[in-house]
Amino acid sequence: MDIKIAITAGDGIGPEVVEEALKVLEAVNRRFGHKLTHSSWLIGGCSIDKFGSAIEPGTIEGCKKANAVLLGAVGGPKWDDPKAKVRPEDGLLHLRKALGLFSNLRPVKSHKALLSASTLKPEALNNVDMVVVRELTGGLYFGKPKKRWETSRGRKAVDTMAYSEQEVERIMRVGFELARGRRKKLTSVDKANVLKTSQLWREVANEVAKEYADVKMDSMLVDTCAMRLVTNPAYFDVIVTENTFGDILTDEAAVLAGSMGMLPSASLGGKELIAGKGRFKDRTFGLYEPIHGSAPDIAGQNKANPLATILSVAMMLRYSFGLHTEAELIERTVSSIIDDGYRTQDLMREGMRLMNTQEMGSLVASKVTA
Ligand code: IPM
Ligand code: MG
Repeated sequence: MDIKIAITAGDGIGPEVVEEALKVLEAVNRRFGHKLTHSSWLIGGCSIDKFGSAIEPGTIEGCKKANAVLLGAVGGPKWDDPKAKVRPEDGLLHLRKALGLFSNLRPVKSHKALLSASTLKPEALNNVDMVVVRELTGGLYFGKPKKRWETSRGRKAVDTMAYSEQEVERIMRVGFELARGRRKKLTSVDKANVLKTSQLWREVANEVAKEYADVKMDSMLVDTCAMRLVTNPAYFDVIVTENTFGDILTDEAAVLAGSMGMLPSASLGGKELIAGKGRFKDRTFGLYEPIHGSAPDIAGQNKANPLATILSVAMMLRYSFGLHTEAELIERTVSSIIDDGYRTQDLMREGMRLMNTQEMGSLVASKVTA
């Protein structure tokens, strides 16, 4: 199969982890006879430096010509001035919005061999296996008005949280379909005791739930959810929530997996996302990225954990190319490497084998070919 992708490696450790993920993809391709073709685009701070805007001109069109986008990370202290006109993050947000990628899937699993790597007690982490479905193109991130200004009494700023029933409905459907293919449990997370958008969210969630009688649905307030994630994370199967809540909760959930360096994500869109019966269409356009940031403190040092990006490639093969065997092979390989005690520095413990970024990528690549 022709694996046609656009690459936006970004800033900091982005290019380093993307390179390792491509190493693994090429290894998979060799084994299964697929062929990679790709275009590369600047996004984030590197694009600001070169073009003055957070995304290289032509990127959206370039991405649309591909079947999937692989992204590293954006941002860094160099571009962090809160008064700056453009920020690296603008590029990523524009990309998500312009490509209509409203559905962000963030699977969180605890791996037995990594239980002790979490700051939480190992016994709290047994059987953690959830997917957070984060709404990605609405809410506070994109609502208008969004601005800051000067008044006679000082500075003011506003962001707007807005949701339409269509936006809530389509993301709920993604969650329900996903739940059908899993343990059939869905938790819709909102702040319906305070926010209008959340009251609408809860109402629509209840309406959609009627069509999915086989899935057990509950609604939970986001503050309760934040607590439950660390007191009883095994409670959750599929969580569906709005953009900002999802951003915050998934960083928290990363603690369950031992390190941010382990968590992949897929951002999907399009009307024809859902094939029914708990499955997505086999070849849907998507953007794949680790949930971690650009980690400027370790950038360029060959220290970053590439596994989140490698696992993002697995999600890409599954959702955008329908290559389930290949996806599972990558996931199984990563698991076995963790079982065998190989660790990048973020997960390093006594008695484990320390790997740098490139060594970890090469190890996964060699094992998927074997
Ligand atoms: C994420 C990140 C982004 C977000 C930033 C980099 C804009 O935190 O993907 O979770 O807030 O969506
Ligand atoms: Mg985030």
